[in-house]
Amino acid sequence: MLLVTGGAGFIGANFVLDWLAQSAEAVVNLDKLTYAGNLQTLESLSGNPGHVFVQGDIGDSALVDRLLAEHRPRAVVNFAAESHVDRSIHGPEDFVQTNVVGTFRLLESVRGYWSALPTDQKAAFRFLHVSTDEVYGSLGAADPAFTEENKFEPNSPYSASKAASDHLVRAWRHTYSLPVLTTNCSNNYGPFHFPEKLIPLMIVNALAGKPLPVYGDGMQVRDWLYVKDHCSAIRRVLESGRLGETYNVGGWNEKPNIEIVNTICALLDELRPRADGKSYREQITFVTDRPGHDRRYAIDARKLERELGWKPAETFDTGIRKTVEWYLANGEWVRNVQSGAYREWVQKQYGAPAKAAA
Ligand code: NAD
Ligand code: DAU
Repeated sequence: MLLVTGGAGFIGANFVLDWLAQSAEAVVNLDKLTYAGNLQTLESLSGNPGHVFVQGDIGDSALVDRLLAEHRPRAVVNFAAESHVDRSIHGPEDFVQTNVVGTFRLLESVRGYWSALPTDQKAAFRFLHVSTDEVYGSLGAADPAFTEENKFEPNSPYSASKAASDHLVRAWRHTYSLPVLTTNCSNNYGPFHFPEKLIPLMIVNALAGKPLPVYGDGMQVRDWLYVKDHCSAIRRVLESGRLGETYNVGGWNEKPNIEIVNTICALLDELRPRADGKSYREQITFVTDRPGHDRRYAIDARKLERELGWKPAETFDTGIRKTVEWYLANGEWVRNVQSGAYREWVQKQYGAPAKAAA
């Protein structure tokens, strides 16, 4: 049994879906269902006894203690977080609350549970913390990609809160010997990505005839990884990662933002041409830059490749085509997310209180 937190969000849900497609081991999925959590993403697991969903907060120690005692997982995979940089600039408090305080409380609950396990289960137990390349700060154009040796220089409230959580995880290893693993991944994209992030936002805005807002000069560089490849890396680290180690995860796909937007426009021009015959590029609009915008991220994933034999399955070309095709085929998922209608579905399905989408 695994305890997965944040498993109704973009990466967590992809992980749970992939896990249950490949393994008979059940998953308890603890998710607060913030604006980013969406049980409709997990609809295909309805009636699957291998998936136990619990709505709740990683910072609710009584709840987490009870779940650990009841389900006795052999590992915890922590995806739960506030994840959007722009939101962290406008309202950092939730980021500190979930990413820092929440991770601290989760670590304490897990430590209590793990300490009392019989020796063999104690030795086999793992706490895998899912983190980001943004903890390393920003690279200059000629700098080498981030390795696990780079120092932490987080620049946004989001990345600072994630860096704090990584430090807590590290300290729980050093001080209490908790068997932890940490992954620091680059930008993900793929199915079920909330349309506030660059790639899904550009796809849905293009199709809706809206402007495609490119921040600043559009020459900021991100390093893109298809979400299923991130999930396979996490599985590999969970299986074979060395205790206390951190592993960078990335697919060697550095691209300036404007190139990403142009690629999406070209794919849409091919797959769903505009009625007026013009290119979706016409909708590109350069807007005011994000405050403190990191210029470049790039991940050196050689440690993960060398030690654990991990390789991504998708190139950027194959992954972005799959992603655009997924959004074209899943208009209802997008419409429900945008309208907040998925809250009503959750209420009907689970009797949980509906919350307005932010
Ligand atoms: P997301 O915003 O799509 O999902 C986050 C999920 O966590 C949501 O389902 C939300 O309801 C849940 N959640 C939030 N606060 C919670 C709390 N207090 N208790 C329980 N659940 C809570 O995020 P994502 O993009 O899927 O990211 C998942 C993890 O991966 C995060 O830790 C993020 O920092 C990390 N990460 C993301 C990326 C990326 O490109 N998206 C890259 C590297 C690392
Ligand atoms: O690097 C990993 C991180 O990637 C994760 O830790 C975060 O959770 C995830 O949100 C992502 O952060 P970014 O800030 O890089 O992602 P976002 O999609 O918000 O933006 C990607 C780039 O595109 C960034 O340079 C800002 C730019 N951008 C974004 C949006 C939403 C635009 O130019 N226009 C936009 O409308």
